[in-house]
Amino acid sequence: MRIGIIGSGRIGGNTARRLAEAGHEVRLSFARDPASLVQLAGEIGPNASEGTPAGAVAFAEVIVFAVPWGAIPQALEQAGSLAGKVVIDTTNQFGSGPQPAGGQTAAQFSRRSSRPRRRAARAPSGWCSGCAATTLTPSGSSPA
Ligand SMILES: NC(=O)c1ccc[n+]([C@@H]2O[C@H](COP(=O)([O-])OP(=O)(O)OC[C@H]3O[C@@H](n4cnc5c(N)ncnc54)[C@H](OP(=O)(O)O)[C@@H]3O)[C@@H](O)[C@H]2O)c1
Repeated sequence: MRIGIIGSGRIGGNTARRLAEAGHEVRLSFARDPASLVQLAGEIGPNASEGTPAGAVAFAEVIVFAVPWGAIPQALEQAGSLAGKVVIDTTNQFGSGPQPAGGQTAAQFSRRSSRPRRRAARAPSGWCSGCAATTLTPSGSSPA
């Protein structure tokens, strides 16, 4: 499967690494220093490439959205239309940027503020970068 990564840090980068190891093609995107994406793609290997957020969306069937809370508007703007894509949203409301109203979950907030016509899935809040690095497997079980 082709998977676009928007935000290629601890969560996005580690998830990309595991997906590539499982045979998926990943396209890394969204960094203030684009050279870091080139380096990470090189480390991951032939199943990884880098590009812009819009390029990652065009490339992929599934998007892993893993940007800091305060950078969500910028990332969505650069991604363009997500129509028809499955988006796995890992974001949590830590850091800068508008916060969910009292009683509103991050998922409810994101649904209202992000673009329509994409199919969204929330990554579990317990999804941590360490887990992404070590325990994600194609079958969902822990590696031996
Ligand atoms: N880390 C966890 O264990 C964890 C667990 C659950 C949920 N989350 C959520 O998942 C999302 C991603 O977390 P993360 O830990 O992977 O973040 P991170 O390591 O800081 O990665 C953020 C990525 O976004 C890029 N980026 C592009 N423009 C940016 C900007 N203007 N400001 C900041 N970063 C920018 C960064 O690249 P450059 O630095 O090269 O610009 C980096 O690749 C967050 O919403 C977080 O709350 C994280």
